[in-house]
Order: sequence, then structure tokens, then C-alpha cells
Amino acid sequence: MSGPAPGGDLGPDDADITDPDTYVDGVPHATFARMRREAPVSFVEESDGGAGFWAVVGYQDLLTVSRNVDVFSSSRGIRLEEMSDDESAARRTMMELDPPEHTAYRRLVSKPFSRKAVYAYEDVIRQLARVVIDEALAEERFDYVERIARQLPMRMLGALLGVPDDDGPWLVEQGDAMLGNTDPDFTTHPVDLVDTEEFRLIPFRSPAGIRLFEYAEGQAQLRRDDLTGDVISDLLRPKVDGEALTEHEFNNFFTLLVAAGNDTTRYTMAAGLKALIERPDQLDELRRAIAEGRSDVVATAVDEILRWGSVTMHFRRTALTDTELGGQQIHAGDKVVMWFISADYDDAQFPDPFTFDIHRAPNAHVAFGLMSPHLCLGAQLARMEIKILLEELLPKLADVTFDGEIARLRSNFIAGIKRLPIHVTPT
Ligand code: HEM
Repeated sequence: MSGPAPGGDLGPDDADITDPDTYVDGVPHATFARMRREAPVSFVEESDGGAGFWAVVGYQDLLTVSRNVDVFSSSRGIRLEEMSDDESAARRTMMELDPPEHTAYRRLVSKPFSRKAVYAYEDVIRQLARVVIDEALAEERFDYVERIARQLPMRMLGALLGVPDDDGPWLVEQGDAMLGNTDPDFTTHPVDLVDTEEFRLIPFRSPAGIRLFEYAEGQAQLRRDDLTGDVISDLLRPKVDGEALTEHEFNNFFTLLVAAGNDTTRYTMAAGLKALIERPDQLDELRRAIAEGRSDVVATAVDEILRWGSVTMHFRRTALTDTELGGQQIHAGDKVVMWFISADYDDAQFPDPFTFDIHRAPNAHVAFGLMSPHLCLGAQLARMEIKILLEELLPKLADVTFDGEIARLRSNFIAGIKRLPIHVTPT
């Protein structure tokens, strides 16, 4: 292994992978490595009294689950949490639909997120990145997450959607409260620590879901009589065949975007800078590649950062029929959980998986899902955001070092570095 592993070491090999507290000390990579070795599919009890689930930790088995949507359904929930029928119905987004409903819905929203469509916003997003980076670099010591990584993704997504930039910080807070719904730093209602019964029909059982829904409603109202050129207008505009999102579907989708497109990219940006600071040779090489306009190296670096972070650590499916997987007999109704964070370090797929290599190719990581109709809708946007950040930030840094303690999110779902204090010497 060259260079420190994620989190400084591989962690304990007997961690409780369901306990949010486990991840405060870093991802327990040694536990996942042992599971991959001993039983790539195994039954895991849940410490909070849930029904337990099949943990799929190997790359190939994960792809089998991911692509086989007739057997492994998203409709009963995509995270560990069990939901009653009324909760599932009220909180359903496109992520919890199976084909053919999913296919029809995705057709209505996919165009503005294509590579071509997001690159139309490249200049606007680059300009935003320059402003945020220059503001942060006015000081030599700062928290990289607070000043840069937390600011950019939501404001970049906001520029695309067409919401006022001033609303960015508020939207960031709401996104945090939803995705950080087990971390007391981000929500007044951590779901496993306080009673959230009154919010059980709201996404992530979070009061922020209500606020975002209302905000989305307001944005739709503003454009009702006058659709403009922004992505919100595009989403509301009827398509050629007359089909369009209903207002309820739009509000729901907007809320999903704020949840899915905000923290995920932020934490990937944080994981990326941490990995580069730990490996000054790779940082130098990437900086040189940027100066020489080597977009091929920047592209492989972005994908390696995505693999390394694998920020959405798992997604769940539910078996619709009895089936066999990895030598285990799965029964209809069983929860089956794909651990992306583990598959992305499977040495059967990635040579020297704990070596961070900005030139890694091929790199068919599963950070965005893979071979699945649910493949991340924001993948092209996230890739572009991370690329622009690297291109704008690294040339401005003569030196960058750690400057204090790193803090991680309390979550078994999102691998998040929530504080990354750094010291910079500008060029
Ligand atoms: C590095 C950042 C990101 C990561 C690691 C990530 C990860 C993922 C993953 C693993 C899935 C598949 C879920 C499943 O199989 O059930 C997914 C789906 C999705 N992502 Fe992302 N995502 C990121 C950024 C974004 C951004 C920027 C947006 C919004 C613009 C976004 C919007 C979505 C949506 C709407 C889906 C659902 C797609 C569907 O169900 O068809 N994501 N994401």
C-alpha cells in the first residue's frame, strides 16, 4: 500500500457497520475487507432492532443486484430504514420507483442533466467557483469544508436550476438537515436519538423536507405564467408528447435534488483534497497536469476521487422473489443492501485498491451506481463541479497542509468529512 488509507488507517475489522457512531472514527475498511474475504454476501443484524439485511460487499455481486431490477426492487425503500406503506407512498421519489414507472419519470427529468446540458453552464459555474475560492483564500487558515466544499455544490446546482444565489446558504442548511439526519450538528431531530413520529411522512423524517417543499412551490409559482430558460422552467414545461411533471411531482423532485446533489458532492470534494494533501507527489502532478491543459489526467483524477470517497456508502433493495446470491438463499421480502463503499475497494476489480492513483484506468467505480436504471442523474454535473474546483483551486495553492482536527459525519449512509481545517500558501 502506498500512502495512508482513507481515514489514516483501515479501522477495526469487527465494527458494527449499521451503527452511525462507527463512522465518526472513519469508514471501517478492515471490516469490509474481512467481509469480502469471508462472505461477500452475509446476513447482518441491525443494532437498532430492525429486521436485519443481506450485506452485499463484493463488486460483482453488487452489480448483479444493481442491474436486476425485476428481482431487487427500490419501491420498498432505498435506505436501511423500514417504512410502512403510508410512509413509502408519501415519501416516494423517482429513487423509490421501479420500471416501467421509473423509466417514464426519468424521461421527464433527464435532459437538463445530460453532459451537453450541464456543460452549457460551465462558464457560470467556473465564475462562481472563482468567487468562492478567492473569498476563502483571503485567509491562510480556514475550514475547507465550511468555506469551499460546502458552498459550491448547492450554489452551482442553484445556478443551473435558476434560484437566487442568496438562497444558497439556506438551501445548504436544509439539505444538511435531511442527509445529516442522524447527526446532531445538522438537525434538531436526529432520527435515532429523538422522537420523529410527527415527521414520518416527510422525506428523511425531517422537518427540512416541509420547508423545501414550500420553497419549491414558491419557485414554481414564480414561473407559472412565464417559463424562462432555466432548468426549473424546463422541468415544468410540457414535453413534446404533452407529458409534464405535476406540481406535486416537481416539489418532490426539487426536494430530492437538494438532498441528493448537495452534500454528496461536498463530501467528495473534501475526501479528494484530503487524499491529495496526504500525497504531495500526486497533488504536484495534478497541479502540473492542470497547468499543461492535460484534461485526460484531470478526468482520471476526478474518477479516482469519486471511487476513493464513495460518499453514498450504501443503497438498499428488497427482494421480490426467492433468489440465490453469492451462495446465499435470499427470500422474497428480505432487505438487500449494496455497500458501494466496499465494492469500490474490492481487489478483484481494482488492483491495489488502497492506493490512491490519479491515473487509475480503467476505473469502473460504483460511486454513482452502475448498470442500473437508477444510475446517478447528477453524475455529469458532479463530475464537472469537481473538475472545475480542481482546475480553479490547485493552481492558486503553492502549498496546502492540514491545520487541525478532522471531523466526520455521524451517519451509516453518507461518508462525510464535515470539518477539514487547512493552512494554505497562495501562489
Ligand atoms: C459525488 C456526488 C454524488 C454521488 C456520490 C451520488 C451518488 C448516487 C448514487 C449511488 C445513486 C444511485 C441510487 C440507487 O441506486 O438507488 C444516485 C442517484 C441519484 N442522484 Fe446522485 N450522487 C451525486 C451527485 C448528485 C447530484 C449533483 C445530483 C443532482 C443534480 C444527484 C441526483 C441524483 C438523483 C436524482 C438520483 C436518482 C436517480 C434515479 O433514481 O433514477 N446526485 N446518486
